[in-house]
Amino acid sequence: MISAGIVTMSYIAATVLFILALGGLSNPETARRGNWFGIAGMTIALLATILGVVTQNYVMLLVALLIGGSIGLYLARRVQMTQMPELVAILHSLVGLAAVMVGFASFMDPTAQFEGIEHTIHDIEIYVGILIGAVTFSGSVIAFGKLSARISGKPLTLPGRHLFNLGLLIASIWFGREFVLQSAAGGGLEPLIIMTIIALVFGIHMVMAIGGADMPVVVSMLNSYSGWAAAATGFMLSNDLLIVTGALVGSSGAILSYIMCRAMNRRFLAVIAGGFGTGGGTTVSAGDAEQGEVFPIDTQETAALLLDAKEIMIVPGYGMAVAQAQHIVYEITRALRDKKINVRFGIHPVAGRMPGHMNVLLAEARVPYDIVFEMDEVNEDFPEVDVSIVIGANDIVNPSAQEEPDSPIAGMPVLEVWKGKTTIVLKRSMATGYAGVQNPLFFKENTRMLFGDAKESLDAVFKAL
Ligand code: TAP
Repeated sequence: MISAGIVTMSYIAATVLFILALGGLSNPETARRGNWFGIAGMTIALLATILGVVTQNYVMLLVALLIGGSIGLYLARRVQMTQMPELVAILHSLVGLAAVMVGFASFMDPTAQFEGIEHTIHDIEIYVGILIGAVTFSGSVIAFGKLSARISGKPLTLPGRHLFNLGLLIASIWFGREFVLQSAAGGGLEPLIIMTIIALVFGIHMVMAIGGADMPVVVSMLNSYSGWAAAATGFMLSNDLLIVTGALVGSSGAILSYIMCRAMNRRFLAVIAGGFGTGGGTTVSAGDAEQGEVFPIDTQETAALLLDAKEIMIVPGYGMAVAQAQHIVYEITRALRDKKINVRFGIHPVAGRMPGHMNVLLAEARVPYDIVFEMDEVNEDFPEVDVSIVIGANDIVNPSAQEEPDSPIAGMPVLEVWKGKTTIVLKRSMATGYAGVQNPLFFKENTRMLFGDAKESLDAVFKAL
């Protein structure tokens, strides 16, 4: 056992490390260091809690740690980079579930001795903790289902869904009042269980109503909720570190949601209201499309176009992650830069399936950071670009976001590749992207389609170069 003073000191040290971790993770260059800060903080937090806060049931604790740790290790080793968002979603669900369980355990704890106003405050903590936890749990499970394509990405738009949500909110408040009153008289389990069911339904309904294109915001929003659920658990357990850590995760998730909303040109409330982007990813064959003609290109011609260019912009998307083409992309970049061709990367804020997805892949392939640019930094430059190579990207280069006011993705900022001299799009078919919207870029006169798996196509282009 260690003293309470050492526990407090350790908690402060862990808090500082968590803040440094968040700071580090905001930039690809410092992200690795940020991760180490986070690991160190979490190790200190765990040790201080195990040695200083827990006083009994060590065997149970160690068995639980062993089971949880093994599952975590197994999942982390097995997960593919493209499955990362699903893993994150399911991990959020566990934070929510933990908050619900701790809430019920606190409520039923026979040793808890709270009187008067303290009793009421404790009850409110329990109620709010379970409420946020249950919404986080069921919402994250649905998000996991949608991200892993087990559930359709199509938004579920029930008639009167806003009224339904409002009804659930009012019912939660009413049962909250019932719970506090009944708990003061020694009861309260019934309203607590009813509210938990209401919160679970709300979580399911909220995420079901959200269309494919809004999923990035939902992932970061659930990230934020999981933080607040952890903070609520901290209040119930009177654990300062859990409160601070939960608040850090909650607020950074909220800031990320705000950044995502700005990137998608959407208001947060509109996202919650749902219905944006149809989701799914339908296949449209080139022949059926009324949009016009498609001009295919082969790898030899692609190589020739690249060698002729002076300015090249590479726009990666989700398909680069699927194909694991980042390494060959860098090989090609190096070969072209050696020939004094200016090659840059334009990164859309929601490219791929998680915030920073493309940056992580490019960093893994050791692409220098100084040639990787955010969308806003390069979007004006396309008229001067000779060749844009779109690698497995679709929604983020879809001109209908600007040209068709009725499009489900209308208003979403996109990389304006079509303004360059030639655009080469690498993908396997004419299938739509995540938002399920047809892309007129593929039918433009200055677009060439290089069909096939992105890695295989680029391997061949590299040979031809
Ligand atoms: P998408 O619009 O999903 O398009 C990806 C394209 O890659 C598909 O059209 C697919 O076409 C192609 N592809 C897949 N595997 C490929 C392979 N092996 N080789 C070559 N091409 C391949 O991706 P995006 O442009 O990156 O846009 C991201 C979308 O995901 C946005 O709608 C965004 O809102 C959403 N989203 C983003 C996030 C975050 S936080 N980034 C989270 C959830 C959802 P083929 O099937 O024809 O090959």
